[in-house]
Amino acid sequence: MSGKIKVGVIGLGVGQAHAHGYQASPDAELVAVCDADSRRLNEQGDRLGISPEARFTDVNEMLAMPGLEAVSVTLPNYLHAPVTIAALQAGKHVLCEKPLARSAAEAQTMVDAAKKAGKTLMVCFNYRYREDARWLRALSDEGKLGKIYFAKAGWLRNTGIPGAGSWFTHKDQAGGGPLIDLGVHVLDLTLWLMGYPKIVSVSGNTFAEFGPKGKKSSRKLQGEVHYDVEDLAAGFVRFENGASLSIETSWASHTKAGRDDYFVTLYGTEGGSELYVPNYADRDTIAFYTEEGGIPVNIHPAIVTRGGGHTMATAHFVRCLIDGVPPESTGEQGVALLKVIDGLYESAKTGREVRFD
Ligand SMILES: NC(=O)c1ccc[n+]([C@@H]2O[C@H](COP(=O)([O-])OP(=O)(O)OC[C@H]3O[C@@H](n4cnc5c(N)ncnc54)[C@H](O)[C@@H]3O)[C@@H](O)[C@H]2O)c1
Repeated sequence: MSGKIKVGVIGLGVGQAHAHGYQASPDAELVAVCDADSRRLNEQGDRLGISPEARFTDVNEMLAMPGLEAVSVTLPNYLHAPVTIAALQAGKHVLCEKPLARSAAEAQTMVDAAKKAGKTLMVCFNYRYREDARWLRALSDEGKLGKIYFAKAGWLRNTGIPGAGSWFTHKDQAGGGPLIDLGVHVLDLTLWLMGYPKIVSVSGNTFAEFGPKGKKSSRKLQGEVHYDVEDLAAGFVRFENGASLSIETSWASHTKAGRDDYFVTLYGTEGGSELYVPNYADRDTIAFYTEEGGIPVNIHPAIVTRGGGHTMATAHFVRCLIDGVPPESTGEQGVALLKVIDGLYESAKTGREVRFD
């Protein structure tokens, strides 16, 4: 492929970040937007400078637009699979928001469709593209951590149930609560930094102590709201290479007021690292610990990040299409992650460890 890739964005919530990313990329041209909510569509269409005839409330009409080569699918989780598959069958490359789908089995149908269509499917794990995460990845690639034998990953909020009563808090539409919503990001970051080792078993538990009582929502609630997902999840993962990982995620918990922090801590034989991002901070988020000649060494690189990584993720997607190379965050990794998440939910339900063969 050469020249600019003609891209459309389907769903204009976080899809706005994709649209801005494409507009900032020298390799892309944002040619169309789609949202079922016509008010949002027109507000964003005006803001993005998209002509009225390139604004769609119907996905299939947008997919039929001549010249459209690729789309971002930034819809509620239950729509990822049907819309991605329709886009792939219409000959478009797809950048799909996380989680790839509500379950590994559903995500696998998307990977199969991409293979059949011969098109690219990338999952948007945008936090990988932040400068702090890339610094840690370079550290890990250079062997500065040695063998990573234990990792701690988490995303904890005091008060932050998103869209209580909306698709986010319907298990059948979202697939789950904070584990699939936030945990998917930190699990991906951790597995990516560890080189996606093979998983042998998971054990987890989930709790719903606030959501069903209408508490700790990120927006003011009126009346009763539907809530059948967890609001805190914790788990433990074992890898074939002997390493382990612990994970904790919450949308709602009695923790530090205002807390909305994610973290990845790696313990290696040669060094340890900490990524700790409080409230989407853009600096002072990473540290590397080792020792030289028995003397402890602490390194805090002065790295400033630019946002949540969407601009770089969208730029990477279109660059891969032009270069004809697979993206860094593949559909297969999206499936692998959902296997862990499915396993943690199953373990929470049965009270038993889930083993993978
Ligand atoms: N990577 C990140 O940092 C990040 C951040 C937020 C959300 N997300 C993911 O992005 C996805 C969307 O989340 P959101 O917060 O933007 O949700 P949202 O509910 O705010 O926005 C979804 C949009 O999709 C539109 N929509 C729904 N059904 C549609 C249809 N059939 N056709 C066209 N438009 C339709 C809605 O009108 C809405 O504007 C989710 O999968 C979520 O997990 C990722």
